[in-house]
Amino acid sequence: MNLIIFGPPGAGKGTQSNNIINNFDLKQVSTGDLLRNEIKLKTILGKKIESIIDNGELVSDDVVNTLIRKIISDPKNLNRLIFDGYPRTISQIHSLEKLLKKFNQKISVVINLYVEKDIVSKRIEGRVICTKCFKIFNAYLNPANSKNHKCEKKYLEKRTDDNSKTILNRYETYVVKTKAILDYYNKKGILHEIDGNQIIVEIYDKIKGILENIKD
Ligand code: AP5
Ligand code: MG
Repeated sequence: MNLIIFGPPGAGKGTQSNNIINNFDLKQVSTGDLLRNEIKLKTILGKKIESIIDNGELVSDDVVNTLIRKIISDPKNLNRLIFDGYPRTISQIHSLEKLLKKFNQKISVVINLYVEKDIVSKRIEGRVICTKCFKIFNAYLNPANSKNHKCEKKYLEKRTDDNSKTILNRYETYVVKTKAILDYYNKKGILHEIDGNQIIVEIYDKIKGILENIKD
């Protein structure tokens, strides 16, 4: 099964994708992570997109579609992808559909985590990520401690786009694009809405219930 996890910045897409891959044989594809990796490695692409990401704008569809193509075309990933933060535009939806068709696959379920703006701002301001094990924590809401995190504290970092100005831009960009994407998957009958304001385990229980009922 392939699925899409959708929602505003800070909705918990990465957090819940981590929970899903710990329990299902699926692989997370976060376009945000792929793009940040290009920046970290200082590739030509990374240098081009750095200021776009730091301003909270969307990277061009061509760039993102090319990254996704590599992943979908890899036989190891056949029917086991969680798309986190992709597609975000109608053009990305069309590109994804074309690729999936070419490689004889489909999206079985789209999960939308809806969360209010004030809540996501607080979540993003407190977010820290381990650069070694990639676990996501929150200084206020879900701090790393000796029970939930084994790596040294020095690996915990903030994202460069997690500042109050960029957060607002990211949120506004999301709001502008959202409706068309959700409408598209709603018409296909595969959209599931989950209240992302709940605590992490409650949200995960709902996601698990949905995934366990998918027949393919
Ligand atoms: P991306 O990395 O996808 O960022 P985003 O969409 O802004 O989403 P986030 O990663 O910020 O939030 P999340 O929902 O994953 O939340 P998380 O689980 O970490 O994209 C970054 C940029 O890349 C974009 O702005 C754009 O420039 C570019 N880009 C990416 N994809 C693109 C595309 N397809 N096309 C074009 N450009 C693209 O949780 C957040 C925090 O909250 C954490 O601290 C976590 O511990 C905490 N938390 C999570 N859930 C809960 C909960 N239920 N209760 C309390 N705390 C919680
Ligand atoms: Mg994320």
